[in-house]
Formats: sequence, C-alpha cells, structure tokens
Amino acid sequence: MECAEQTVVVTGGTRGIGRAISLRFAAAGARVTAAYLANEQAAEELEAAAASLPGTITTIKADVSTGAGAIAVIDAAAGPSGHLDVLINNAGIIRDVYLPMMAEEDWETVLRTNVSPLFHCCKWGVRKMLAKRRGAIVNVASISAYAGTPGQTNYAASKGAAISFTKALSREVGPMGIRVNAVAPGLIETEMIAGMKQEIVQSIVKSTALGRLGQAAEVAEAVLFLASDRASYISGQCLIVDGGII
Ligand code: NAI
Repeated sequence: MECAEQTVVVTGGTRGIGRAISLRFAAAGARVTAAYLANEQAAEELEAAAASLPGTITTIKADVSTGAGAIAVIDAAAGPSGHLDVLINNAGIIRDVYLPMMAEEDWETVLRTNVSPLFHCCKWGVRKMLAKRRGAIVNVASISAYAGTPGQTNYAASKGAAISFTKALSREVGPMGIRVNAVAPGLIETEMIAGMKQEIVQSIVKSTALGRLGQAAEVAEAVLFLASDRASYISGQCLIVDGGII
C-alpha cells in the first residue's frame, strides 16, 4: 500500500502499458484517474477490474494533447483537496513510415500527440504539486530515442523530446520537491505493436539479452518505482526497460 491515498493521473491509462500502470498504482492503494481518447467499453471494464483492488480507478475521456483536455483530467484527479501526487504521461501513438514517404500529417500528429501532453499535463500537474512541495512525474519515452529505428523519424524525435523535456523540467521543479523521470521501454506486447510484421518483431526479440518481448506489467513496475519514495534521490533520469537491447 505504498501509494495509499495518493492521487495519480495516468494518460492513455485504459489500454496497453497505461492500463497496466493504472492497475499497478490501484493495487498499491492509489486513487487513479485514467485518461483515454476512445473506447468507453475498455474504460468501463478497467474501472470494474479495479473493484477488487485497495485503490480506485476513475476513467475520464479527454484529449490530453490540448490544454482544455489536460486541465479537465488534472482537476478531476486532484479533486477537492486540490493536490496531485503523481503524474504519468503515457499517452502516445506511432505512425511508422519512411521519411521520403511521410505525410506532413504523420509528422505533425505524432509530434502533437506525443509531445504536447507533456507541456499541458506537466504545466497543470506541477501547479497542483506546488502547494505541498511534493510530487513525482514519470514520462513514458521509448528506446527509439536511443536506438533509432527505420521508419520512426517522427516517433524517435517525439521520444527524444520527452527525454530532454524530462531533464529540463527536473531542474526547474526539483527545488520544489518534485521529481521528474522517464522510462524508455523496448518492444512491449500491446495493441500498439499488433500490426507489426512478424519478421521485424522476431529480429527485435533476437536483439534483446533476455530473448523475449516485454510485458506491460514490467514497465508498470519500473514506473511505480520511479514515482515512489524508493526513488527519492532519483530525478532527471530515463530508465531503460527493454530486456537488454540498448
Ligand atoms: P497503446 O496504443 O496500446 O495505448 C496508447 C493509449 O494512449 C491509448 O489508450 C490511446 O487512446 C491513448 N492516447 C493516445 N493519444 C491520446 C490523447 N491525445 N489523449 C488521451 N489519450 C491518448 O500503446 P502502448 O503500447 O500501451 O504505449 C503506451 C506508451 O508507451 C506510448 O507512449 C508508447 O509510445 C510507449 N511505448 C510503447 C512501446 C511498445 O512496444 N508498446 C515501446 C516503447 C514505448
């Protein structure tokens, strides 16, 4: 129950890695607000799945790449107390295509979806953390920022931005008791990679030290660690969770 009574926001929190993060925090006693863009049914199922856990999960439909969406989510999570303990920026998309063929829309949508929520959610989230001078933020990046993957110039640029953003913000808010870290997952078995060609998946599996894909729950464990007091002297870091690729 290391997160008992804590207010936690997880963006993209009803599916894939975000879903695992929401469940992990609820299992640790947190009051989780999970933001999602589509699929009400998945949101309802997640709320029901949390019923047997010590904490709670409340879902909210909002586009966190906009200021209005982010404010709605952060305000809902902070509730009457007005305080937010933990913010997990997990929402993200891929639009893989080689650069010469990449449409401007593929570039802009990936950059907007993966980077703008960092600005909006951190801006409003930090404001809710300032009163108690306490809080933790974890941004979900990707090893794509380090490894460079063909067809992912847009995605790699967005995840590199997430890591640089993490480092800059950690310097700004560290003196106010707020820690900011990132995780960089490798290939994790979620719907995001469901459309990937099998030979690409197999070649990535081969490049891991552990010889397998990662599971969303394994990323969630790393996120919980970074957000918890067990990581009280860690800030501005990006923890790679990739089974040993990098
Ligand atoms: P996913 O596609 O299963 O889930 C992403 C979630 O984000 C969805 O629920 C979607 O509705 C939500 N979302 C997207 N845009 C949103 C917006 N504007 N507002 C609110 N919600 C929004 O993806 P997955 O695999 O769970 O990925 C989660 C994060 O992990 C992403 O940031 C992704 O880039 C990152 N990641 C995933 C890897 C993988 O192999 N699956 C590897 C490395 C990083």
